[in-house]
Amino acid sequence: STVRIIGAPTDYGANRRGVDMGPSAIRYAGLADQLTSAGVDPVDAGDLVVPRAEERDPDADAPSEWNAKFLRETADVCRRLAEEVDETLAAGNVPLALGGDHSIAIGSLVGSARDAEIGAVWFDAHADLNTPSTTPSGNVHGMPLAAALGLGEFADTEWANASGLSPENVALVGLRSVDGAEADLLREGDFAVYTMSDIDERGITAVTEEAMATAAAGVDGVHVSLDLDWLDPNEAPGVGTPVRGGVTYREAHSAMEIVDETASLRSMELVEVNPTLDQHNETAELATELAASAFGKRVI
Ligand code: ARG
Ligand code: MN
Ligand code: MN
Ligand code: MN
Repeated sequence: STVRIIGAPTDYGANRRGVDMGPSAIRYAGLADQLTSAGVDPVDAGDLVVPRAEERDPDADAPSEWNAKFLRETADVCRRLAEEVDETLAAGNVPLALGGDHSIAIGSLVGSARDAEIGAVWFDAHADLNTPSTTPSGNVHGMPLAAALGLGEFADTEWANASGLSPENVALVGLRSVDGAEADLLREGDFAVYTMSDIDERGITAVTEEAMATAAAGVDGVHVSLDLDWLDPNEAPGVGTPVRGGVTYREAHSAMEIVDETASLRSMELVEVNPTLDQHNETAELATELAASAFGKRVI
């Protein structure tokens, strides 16, 4: 199969500047070669044009009571990313989006779900289920899952009902930093939730198998969103919001191998790689290796 790489070099959604260099760093780390060694054909669509944050007003256009920085810019990038993802799928290929901060997931999800029912597996230390009224930071990278599901204030945006994605087909894996309102939402029980404690108790293979099965149940395919802060900061130091106690290198590969084995992968993204915080580009390299495992790379 052909994997179409789409760069979305944003840093609107994150506090730390530099995550916009993620797509370059991931390509430079050898993404195309890794995908080739996984047995797929990589095609690079290049990067979406993303105006520099310094040239923009973070508060333009959003309702004044909303705490969501650069929401207009984020919406504009996500609209274009959704189009690219949808066109890639329509051509029979698999989209692989490169962030950029995690706000680009709004575009990936909306695009992947435009002509289909989808599930999503969110590999992340964070739930990214905040809304403009619950966010502690105003950073949209903490909100993409809520936005794509049309939760809270997002019910009044173009994203509500724009996608064939519902909470019953969303699994969150590796959680260890969840805000108050997010915890309330997760306790309501619509989502499949796996914290680091669940991984400790049940093991990464059992948890990932269940997460993929839940996401894939009754839908056309699964979007896999891989936030590199899912891993322990020892393995992935180049991220803006590191949280101790994440998955190991081996656990991460094991999970991505299960993603491949379940054969339901429809679209994927690698987000939150920040080269200015990284050591020798190792987080970007890790991202390429994990993508290869997800697309079928094996030792023999
Ligand atoms: N929950 C925090 C917030 O809303 C952190 C979110 C981090 N998200 C991420 N994609 N790294 O600001
Ligand atoms: Mn279409
Ligand atoms: Mn995260
Ligand atoms: Mn995230």
